[in-house]
Amino acid sequence: MRVSGYRYLIALLLIGWGCPALAASDAPVDQTTIEMNRKANEACYACHSAAGIAKPPKADIDMSKLKDSRLEPTIYNPSDHGVMDCRECHSKTHYTDYPHAEAGKSETVGCTACHAAKVLRLEPQFNASVHAKVQGVKEKFTCFTCHNPHINIVQKRLQDPAKIVAQDNHGCLECHNSSEMFAKFAPEGEKTPGLKKLRPDIDTIHDWLPNAKAHWQSVRCIECHTPEVAENKMLSHEILDKEKSEKKCLSCHSANSTLKARLYRHMVKDEQQKYGFTNSVLLSNSYIIGATRHPLLDSIIIALVIATLLGVLLHGAIRIVMSLRRKKEESQ
Ligand code: HEC
Ligand code: HEC
Ligand code: HEC
Ligand code: HEC
Ligand code: HEC
Ligand code: HEC
Ligand code: HEC
Repeated sequence: MRVSGYRYLIALLLIGWGCPALAASDAPVDQTTIEMNRKANEACYACHSAAGIAKPPKADIDMSKLKDSRLEPTIYNPSDHGVMDCRECHSKTHYTDYPHAEAGKSETVGCTACHAAKVLRLEPQFNASVHAKVQGVKEKFTCFTCHNPHINIVQKRLQDPAKIVAQDNHGCLECHNSSEMFAKFAPEGEKTPGLKKLRPDIDTIHDWLPNAKAHWQSVRCIECHTPEVAENKMLSHEILDKEKSEKKCLSCHSANSTLKARLYRHMVKDEQQKYGFTNSVLLSNSYIIGATRHPLLDSIIIALVIATLLGVLLHGAIRIVMSLRRKKEESQ
């Protein structure tokens, strides 16, 4: 994706001039507006939901095009944009009637319209990603490729690591685990001119990782495929290639786990505010070998070490005594 410079400039100028009506923003939405928006959206769910598709408000509507849509108030409402009127992103005027006017399609706004500052920060990382380097992939890759604006929930609101992993990995696996989807984006293969490059199997690529499938459940692709991140900084949007990706087990499986600044970032922050340390975040979510310091386990291990040492000493002592005795017997 390319968002041209002049659009930033216009967005920033509008914000700078304090022109809230023209420059949309991601400022929190108040409760009355939320209720009003949700009421307005009911008109859309009359068709855009499982119930609507099963029983359209008018006869003779071809609902087959909506089959793949995952729109549903129970999914949309808790999402990042669930407080908004659908028409803040989809043309204000063209979706009030059905059939929708053709012009509506071209009026859907991009992320920059409301998140200019964040896009400004992300764009250089996004453009340095593996996906922006391959001809044929680059042109098709946009923010929507990974972000479903009707469903996604930002990490700090999701909290539960299992849900964060499921959501964020879904974005990557949608292509990297589906040959059909991968082919829609893949470039031509070097050895197969005219044909799409085949999708490498995700588990085979990572066969150096023990139980890769278990890792996909507990850790995100971006944990290893984005550059190191400072605490309190947003994760980078630069997806790294295979040479630069993280392969060291100890980056996660150690007391100083990188996951504290990544997957567990917001939980760690909460816990540090409460207790001043972060051990239990790692313990309560999963026993990550090496990353957690468990006092009882530690005591058991220390006890075992002492017992082994004592055993060795005792053994040695008995042998010395026995040999002395033997010598004494021989000399007699
Ligand atoms: C028409 C304006 C608009 C557009 C376009 C838009 N957003 Fe938003 N976005 C918002 C608003 C408003 C909120 C905050 C809602 C609230 O009060 O919680 C938000 C919240 C978010 C959040 C949660 C942020 C946080 O810190 O809570 C993320 C992430 C996000 N948007 C990503 C995107 C992405 C990615 C796109 C493009 C695919 C996009 N948005 C397009 C208006 C917009
Ligand atoms: C009477 C049924 C119905 C209602 C009500 C309805 N839609 Fe649709 N909508 C459809 C169908 C069917 C499609 C599939 C494409 C088509 O047939 O035009 C669609 C397609 C869309 C699309 C995809 C782009 C496009 O233009 O084809 C968007 C966006 C959309 N609707 C938004 C909305 C919004 C926002 C509302 C509420 C303000 C709404 N729709 C209300 C039936 C409806
Ligand atoms: C934050 C902006 C935003 C909001 C709010 C939003 N949409 Fe969308 N919607 C988009 C974008 C962007 C696309 C195009 C995605 C793409 O090109 O892949 C889209 C695509 C669609 C489509 C066509 C693809 C599909 O998923 O079926 C429909 C239908 C649709 N939206 C309906 C709605 C309805 C109904 C609502 C409110 C309940 C809504 N949208 C709220 C941004 C938004
Ligand atoms: C390759 C997939 C991918 C693409 C493409 C992508 N993102 Fe993201 N984005 C993610 C993932 C995964 C996260 C969650 C990581 C995190 O919590 O920071 C995320 C997080 C975000 C956040 C939330 C950060 C926060 O903590 O507040 C914003 C905002 C965002 N992306 C905007 C964008 C915009 C704008 C674009 C287009 C320029 C874009 N993204 C393109 C995968 C992607
Ligand atoms: C829409 C489909 C799609 C999505 C979503 C997607 N990718 Fe890709 N990815 C591709 C394609 C196509 C290529 C290019 C393949 C090639 O040229 O070898 C690629 C290339 C890559 C490569 C480079 C492989 C190499 O040769 O070094 C990595 C790493 C990668 N993706 C990781 C990710 C991660 C991590 C995510 C999620 C944050 C993600 N991808 C999301 C389609 C996708
Ligand atoms: C534990 C760290 C880690 C995780 C988690 C991880 N990767 Fe990787 N990935 C790597 C490393 C390291 C390589 C390079 C492997 C090599 O050179 O043998 C790699 C290679 C790749 C490649 C390049 C394939 C090629 O040879 O062209 C793709 C694509 C990829 N990963 C996608 C993903 C996706 C999608 C996910 C999430 C499901 C993911 N990775 C999760 C570390 C990781
Ligand atoms: C990006 C962080 C990360 C990296 C890098 C990483 N791991 Fe893991 N690993 C995890 C997490 C998180 C778990 C899940 C703990 C749980 O829920 O049981 C895990 C689980 C495991 C498990 C238990 C799997 C099972 O069967 O349940 C083993 C064994 C393991 N890792 C070994 C390794 C080895 C060896 C490497 C290096 C080649 C490695 N890991 C690299 C994060 C990582």
